[in-house]
Amino acid sequence: MRTTVGIIGAGPAGLLLARLLHNAGIDSVVLESRDRQYVEQRQRAGILEQGTVDVLRAAGAGTRMDREGLRHDGIELRFDRRRYRVDFPALTGGRSVTVYAQTEVCKDLIALQLKEGGPLLFGAEALAVEGAGTDRPRVRFRHQGREDVLECDYVVGCDGSWGVARRAVPAELVRVYERTYPFGWLGVLADVPPSHDELVYARHDRGFALLSMRSTSVSRLYLQVPEGTDAGSWDDDAIWAELERRFETGDGWRLERGPITQKSVTPMRSFVQEPMRYGRLFLAGDAAHIVPPTGAKGLNLAVGDVVTFARALTRLTETGSADLLDAYSETCLRRVWQAERFSYDMTTLLHRAPDATPFEDRLQLARLERVTASRAAATDLAEAYTGFPLD
Ligand code: FAD
Ligand code: DHB
Repeated sequence: MRTTVGIIGAGPAGLLLARLLHNAGIDSVVLESRDRQYVEQRQRAGILEQGTVDVLRAAGAGTRMDREGLRHDGIELRFDRRRYRVDFPALTGGRSVTVYAQTEVCKDLIALQLKEGGPLLFGAEALAVEGAGTDRPRVRFRHQGREDVLECDYVVGCDGSWGVARRAVPAELVRVYERTYPFGWLGVLADVPPSHDELVYARHDRGFALLSMRSTSVSRLYLQVPEGTDAGSWDDDAIWAELERRFETGDGWRLERGPITQKSVTPMRSFVQEPMRYGRLFLAGDAAHIVPPTGAKGLNLAVGDVVTFARALTRLTETGSADLLDAYSETCLRRVWQAERFSYDMTTLLHRAPDATPFEDRLQLARLERVTASRAAATDLAEAYTGFPLD
């Protein structure tokens, strides 16, 4: 099998890249190890930056998002039983975010790819990228019990945090920056209308809690839990009781309960592998970098990477200039590190470390007070939350 761009992974990064290349007249093949249903049902991101929305729309993948996505003009910070709203458009010159789940983005992109795009193979596990340093890179993969080889001009590793692509970069060239956190998120999906019309990020002495949503009738809620927690050890009543405690305010606000339909625990990690390119292998999305979820940057970063790659390759095909392709890693990493910084700041602002000292607790409250008291501090948060520009 032969193609111009071999794409490993059909998460948001791989699927959007295939679409952008198709629109630019460049052919690709997508290899995805899991089945279609798994990719379409995996509960993860929920918030799209303005720039991500614009990219999906321009790629022709925005019809259902425009109909069903919910525009959000702010978030609420909750601490000390008080509530403070961060108003995005007022602080950023009109920017906002959109609530539209990653599952829906993937469904839309898969439907488009199968209808109009190049091959998208489910159940096709990439085993290794070979010859990345040559001008004939190959992906060895297994599909329907048989081993096969995909010959490419370029390979893009969009295979997420545990993929194989990044292992093809020679160890002596790799730089890894990493931090783990001593807590995770217990995430639940509940069939109950969200109790607030915007997201609520709550800092509490018992730990962080987040109220989000998937639609006007489905709530998505998260609780900070100790690292290594088993989701099965939390029964539904205990989850609601803990959420109520952490979201409690002094003004009688109430959390509506409803049937919990899914629960799982996500570990929290910051991770960057540099450089994001070796020869004709490019890494994009979670394959190159992970952020802790607080602040919702992961999917949006993945979008930024593949837009950068598609633009660079289009330029090479149209003008013969490889300048953007050569700058790929550097261009992406500038944005990646801003998102790493923001996600780290949001995580340490809102979570309670198990070994937090009283001094650190007071500092955390002082940082939150600062956001509520200073337009400059609130603007800093709003700008980062709604997204950094793509260039
Ligand atoms: P992935 O979505 O991980 O896709 C990689 C794909 O590659 C997978 O389908 C996998 O099956 C496939 N694959 C792996 N190995 C192979 C192989 N060897 N061969 C073939 N295929 C392979 N981000 C946000 O922006 N906003 C949010 O609100 C947000 N909330 C989150 C909440 C949670 C609880 C979690 C866990 C994450 C959240 N994120 C959020 C992060 C976001 O989900 C990820 O950053 C995003 O999925 C990255 O997309 P990706 O395409 O790079 O990787
Ligand atoms: C969601 C996840 C996040 O990490 C976040 O900061 C906001 C919302 C969500 O899954 O809805």
